[in-house]
Amino acid sequence: MNSAKTPVLDTCLSVSYHNGKQVLSDVRLSIGHGEILGLVGESGSGKSTLALALFNLLDRSRARVTGQIQLNGRDLLNLPEKQMRRVRGSEIALVLQSAGTALNPVLRVGAHLKEAWLAHSNDASKWKQAAASLLERVCLPCDEEFFRRYPSQISVGQAQRLLIAMALLHRPSLLVADEPTSALDAITHAEILALIRELNRDLGLSVLLISHDLLSAASLCSRLAILREGQIVESGAPHRIFAAPEHPYTQRLIAALPPHPLAATLTPEVPIAA
Ligand SMILES: Nc1ncnc2c1ncn2[C@@H]1O[C@H](COP(=O)(O)OP(=O)(O)O)[C@@H](O)[C@H]1O
Ligand SMILES: [Mg+2]
Repeated sequence: MNSAKTPVLDTCLSVSYHNGKQVLSDVRLSIGHGEILGLVGESGSGKSTLALALFNLLDRSRARVTGQIQLNGRDLLNLPEKQMRRVRGSEIALVLQSAGTALNPVLRVGAHLKEAWLAHSNDASKWKQAAASLLERVCLPCDEEFFRRYPSQISVGQAQRLLIAMALLHRPSLLVADEPTSALDAITHAEILALIRELNRDLGLSVLLISHDLLSAASLCSRLAILREGQIVESGAPHRIFAAPEHPYTQRLIAALPPHPLAATLTPEVPIAA
């Protein structure tokens, strides 16, 4: 089953770690084709656990994972590891917070791209061709001088763009971005969010944006899900959540935000009584 009506991701997950701690409780998320869903929660709420669980990357001897992970109508949760390796990076891709540490310091930029290409292709000769259009899209150079550089010779913003290009080389239908901008300065942060928006618009890429930053997520996403202590307490369109937050936790989150012009753009104008 794989039609435009089938959500790209339809999941309901519970996770507890070996110490008995229940980290996620029936976290239900559904992402449509071309949709950006924001999962927002404070540190320790279970965001990265969810991201890793979606990729079957939690160590099953230390974490008990139950529920379902339907990706384009196929359940990933019980997929054997060999088949899961074919799915990771080709149908669903992950971008993490620290671009600096996600890249191998002794591998050149070109070698990173080639390695990402060879994860799902046997034809080594095609990596540059496959990378060229994506590098252009993420505004990175596509020349030998850039390919020869080491990660320490590119900026953090370029490193995050490179990771995004590597993640999208095999044109996955879903990108999971776990706090992709939290290690970046304000300008680079804004540029990476803009890039995710463009990739979503131009490639029809579905995105799960995981963030502790409610305003950034609200500026990018068509829907937000608010995670608190491993449970979704509220979800909906950003303008609705800002205008009329239902859950006391969401109300507190919004009340704690510093005054910001974006909040005003998300809140419908209240008519002033004559
Ligand atoms: N491998 C692990 N073993 C036991 N507890 C863990 C493990 N990884 C994370 N946790 C706990 O799970 C909770 C959620 O962590 P995490 O998913 O990293 O949250 P977030 O990404 O929202 O900051 C935290 O209390 C953390 O201490
Ligand atoms: Mg995290």
